Amino acid sequence: MFRGGFLVLALVFAISACVETTITKAKLVPMGEAAQPVLQFDGGFSQNLQQFDDFRTAIQENIYGYLPDSSKVQVLSKKVLDKSAFSGKAQLEEWRIEVEASFGKDSSLRQSNKAQFNLVVLIPTELKQPVPVIMMQTFCPSHVVIPLPGVSQSKSWSGCESKGLRSKIIAYVFGRYIATPPLQEIIDQGFAIAAMYPSEVFPDSSEHGRAALQTMSSGHGDDNTRWGNIAAWGWLYTQVRGALDHDVRFDKAGTIAYGHSRYGKSALLAAAFDSEIDGVISHQSGTGGASLSRGNLGETIAKIIKSYPYWFAKKFAYYANNEKLLPVDQHQLLALIAPRPLLLGNARRDVWSDPNGAFRAAQAASSAWGLFGQTGLQQEKLNEFKPNADIAFWIRPGTHGVTKEDWPAFLEFLQAHFGREAKP
Ligand code: GCU
Repeated sequence: MFRGGFLVLALVFAISACVETTITKAKLVPMGEAAQPVLQFDGGFSQNLQQFDDFRTAIQENIYGYLPDSSKVQVLSKKVLDKSAFSGKAQLEEWRIEVEASFGKDSSLRQSNKAQFNLVVLIPTELKQPVPVIMMQTFCPSHVVIPLPGVSQSKSWSGCESKGLRSKIIAYVFGRYIATPPLQEIIDQGFAIAAMYPSEVFPDSSEHGRAALQTMSSGHGDDNTRWGNIAAWGWLYTQVRGALDHDVRFDKAGTIAYGHSRYGKSALLAAAFDSEIDGVISHQSGTGGASLSRGNLGETIAKIIKSYPYWFAKKFAYYANNEKLLPVDQHQLLALIAPRPLLLGNARRDVWSDPNGAFRAAQAASSAWGLFGQTGLQQEKLNEFKPNADIAFWIRPGTHGVTKEDWPAFLEFLQAHFGREAKP
């Protein structure tokens, strides 16, 4: 009875959290202010590279906080859980990873801060290796994301269950693939998966999250610009990329970061700071992700800082209702991903994530792709999805979540850029 009451309450909460996302629809033509400052890549190539460095500094200083000055990753063990998962088409493994972060300008004084986590890896075996690999960070622990026998159960509480009424409600509200992606299709299309549960290292909670952020960044010394969860989760993508790099079964030119919503934010940040991530699928990343903070039509800085202050550097709060003073905006984050393929996923009724602001950011960032002789975005309207484009902008009807329409679009993009038939 009490459990039933809790579920009804959870549903009411979930729906009320989405109210702002369901009352209007994003317009399909770009509207609102163009991104400022306009990206101007003139002068020599080295001057332009200097601009990218300036963006990186401003983004860390004002929005996310600073990433470690040095990092290390080590694969402590690799356990084969099933040699013939999916009727012999894939091998399932669990890796134990140790990461190390050090902060401080003086390398001789740096203290190293360590943490460990599990990475669940699913590798297609019937295809010629090396294969491209999709790194995933998810809301649910890996045993829910890849619900196969043998995967360790995370000790951290997540609110996810692989079965039961609660998971049905979550799937109803947030889409069929919110917890578990279409594993069979992904494997059949020749992509490996490497899934981690970021809360295992940096919990998604004000109290425990902050404590972990603090411990892992001791040596940074400036509370105003200490990293928040988005930067820390982004850093974890890079560590996973580093761990995968040493395994010859994976294509070194095909490491893709996939994330939805808050992990769409961290996937963007990871690729912006790690040039060895080869592509990004950032779905409904919204504020602090692909959507511009200035002129945001959905979640403002004030709103995100009120609910999730620990996701960002303390300094970001200064720009709440003060967006004009921000020296950087999210199109500059996207620009740092050039010339690599980038998919930005959206939904028309998910106005909380401001699809229009993400589109204008993509328009403005395209000149960074131009610098490498590429085009960036190749669409005038939000709904003219071009999976082959350098920046593929995807929008579907509906609300926030990962639905049955989303993964086919993601796979089209992946095939176009990293599939067996993709251009070299
Ligand atoms: C909240 C938050 C968003 C975030 C989303 C999610 O709605 O306000 O910024 O993207 O959660 O991660 O699902």
